[in-house]
Amino acid sequence: MPTLLNGTAVAAAIRQEVAAEVKSLTARGIRPGLAAVLVGNVAASHIYVSSKVKSCEELGIFSDLITPPETVTTEEMLGLVADLNARDDIDGILIQLPLPKHVDAKRLLDAISPAKDVDGFHPVNAGRLQSGRPALAPCTPAGVIEILKRSGIALSGKHAVVVGRSDIVGKPAAMLLLHENATVTICHSKTADLPSITRQADILVAAIGRPGFITPEMVKPGATIIDVGINRITDRAEFDKFFAGDAKREEIFTRRGSTIVGDVHPAAFELASAYTPVPGGVGPLTIAMLMSNTVRAAKMRRGL
Ligand code: GUN
Repeated sequence: MPTLLNGTAVAAAIRQEVAAEVKSLTARGIRPGLAAVLVGNVAASHIYVSSKVKSCEELGIFSDLITPPETVTTEEMLGLVADLNARDDIDGILIQLPLPKHVDAKRLLDAISPAKDVDGFHPVNAGRLQSGRPALAPCTPAGVIEILKRSGIALSGKHAVVVGRSDIVGKPAAMLLLHENATVTICHSKTADLPSITRQADILVAAIGRPGFITPEMVKPGATIIDVGINRITDRAEFDKFFAGDAKREEIFTRRGSTIVGDVHPAAFELASAYTPVPGGVGPLTIAMLMSNTVRAAKMRRGL
């Protein structure tokens, strides 16, 4: 039986450490603060940002939720970012993505002070990460490393194969694995004979955003599988493709009309020595690492 890597438990441990650090900083007159900017009415974004704000409250971090209307212009958003960059009570700035199409997201992300870039999306932080300097790293890939390390999974000398090359997950995950002395291969939608490469993976990181894309024939028996995907499925035929015979999932699907599947087909997990489930794997770590980055930014900005 493969070991289940419990992201909820690892996230809880990180949150406890962050809360202790917030307490000690606050006692010294430094209360870390996060500004969360949520534009418009994307339902999923509302849920994510609410969780982030709630996490701040639970950990003693100050939070300011700013909700510009859907019609906000790029210029207005740039003005808001400039204000947040200047505010002393704000250590981290998070602009929830996606933004409305008429807003120039890249220009905005580039305008955030790298010192307050708790999402780690600014090119300065990407460059610092790449060149081995202290950096605020993107939260999801940072969470991937945390769950691997805290689960005692050796990375040095192992072949890590990352499927997906996004700026937010795939590329930074590869860089972080490289810093842990893994041998890293990055694959993507144009990779020729993908299964022949994923089958070489000791550590397989799936971050493609396609439900159940990694199938059993793509996995080396005994590999560790990290599934970063979060895909909502509502179609009965698709449900059956992944979860036929799974009573617990059946109950969820019948009750809610949908369920979540990762980028890995559930049958592929059976070959693994260890894997992160979806939900309850990498997902809970993203917010925990955002909290950790906010505290780190608060300390770095003060030279601590
Ligand atoms: N939208 C989906 N994931 C993220 C994230 O990690 N950060 C931000 N800012 N927006 C997102």
